[in-house]
Amino acid sequence: MAGRILIIVDGPAALTYGTPMVTALRQRKYTVQVAPTAYPGPSATAFVSELAWTTLSGHPCKTIETLDAEAFRQQDLILLAPVSHQVLDIFLRGKALEYLQAAGKPVLAAVPRLSSDPQEDPTEFLAKMPPRSILLQGDTLLDLGAMGTLKAPSLEALLLTVDSILSKNDLAGKRVLITAGPTAEDIDPVRFLTNRSSGKMGIALATAAALRGAEVQLVHGPIQTTVPALTNLHAVPVRSAEEMHHAVLECWTNLDIAILAAAVADFRPDHYAPQKIKKVDGQALILNLRRTPDILAELGTFETRPFLVGFAAESDDVEVNALLKLRKKHCDLICANDIRKPGCGFAVDTNQITLYSPEEAPLHLPLKPKRELADDILNEIVRRMK
Ligand code: CTP
Repeated sequence: MAGRILIIVDGPAALTYGTPMVTALRQRKYTVQVAPTAYPGPSATAFVSELAWTTLSGHPCKTIETLDAEAFRQQDLILLAPVSHQVLDIFLRGKALEYLQAAGKPVLAAVPRLSSDPQEDPTEFLAKMPPRSILLQGDTLLDLGAMGTLKAPSLEALLLTVDSILSKNDLAGKRVLITAGPTAEDIDPVRFLTNRSSGKMGIALATAAALRGAEVQLVHGPIQTTVPALTNLHAVPVRSAEEMHHAVLECWTNLDIAILAAAVADFRPDHYAPQKIKKVDGQALILNLRRTPDILAELGTFETRPFLVGFAAESDDVEVNALLKLRKKHCDLICANDIRKPGCGFAVDTNQITLYSPEEAPLHLPLKPKRELADDILNEIVRRMK
């Protein structure tokens, strides 16, 4: 991998997180320069000396206080990891912000937090960062020995994000719409109809597209999975199929790519009961269901439309059903998976997908983490759009 990274490290996590991270980045052949904090107290240099950072990184280390505009301009990525809120604050208000904005290079920030801390609100930070900047949050426990424990993104997730930012910017200037997750169709104030989708595949696609430079709108149903905080990823949360339909049409301007990965409920209760439905002894409850709008099928009928990608999660006759959906919904590509196969489908982190298109033979992609699969799918979309 090629690329120059300026790494700003802070606090005791610099020792347990920062040092293996610098080593791993160098093993991936990145050129790294470290700028540790050096204030009196638990700064990075209190745990790892300047000489040690120079040795580890292979480049003379400059403390954060001595960085100048040139130090930012020379880089491809500014990595704030691990840093505390105080350091984030320096990048929100100080001279460093000026340098950073002038250089215009993406920023990846990982701010480990105490297990008891709430997730930080990244809005203010991201609003000031250059495009493709990301605040990576995570739940991997970081053992600081006598200093306690912190929660941080896993090193694996961080490295994958660095690789994504530095390997491709091929979706720069493109507008991408993605739908993800299930929808929930309310029956009464306590009950609703939904499905087992976690939204992970759609979120992986949205993250990958944004890291590759696209301006992404992610319309998602009720999900537990966190949507990464990225400058150019805009999440639009909805609940029902009707709401998703409406939100998609709102985003429907000047799009280059639309990927509909949501598991939209096909039916909703005919009537919503504003009061909780009470059971009556000896009587069955009969729900009348009516069809929801088929969002993908509707988009397929539009005269001017972007490159249109649908999903098909099938339990039998995968190829037949996928090809049927491809034709019926006028898609450019269908990503089909067999939900009976181990490691595929809902609520798992991996998937195995076959791509069907009107022009080409089916392309079988291997079983892999959804995040990596997302890049494979985007590679195919970019290739086929040319
Ligand atoms: N889809 C949609 N709106 C719906 C139903 C489905 O936009 N109301 C989209 C999904 O996001 C997916 C594709 O259509 O991209 C196929 O969805 P799927 O649920 O697999 O198929 P259905 O068309 O609903 O058919 P069936 O449930 O009968 O398999």
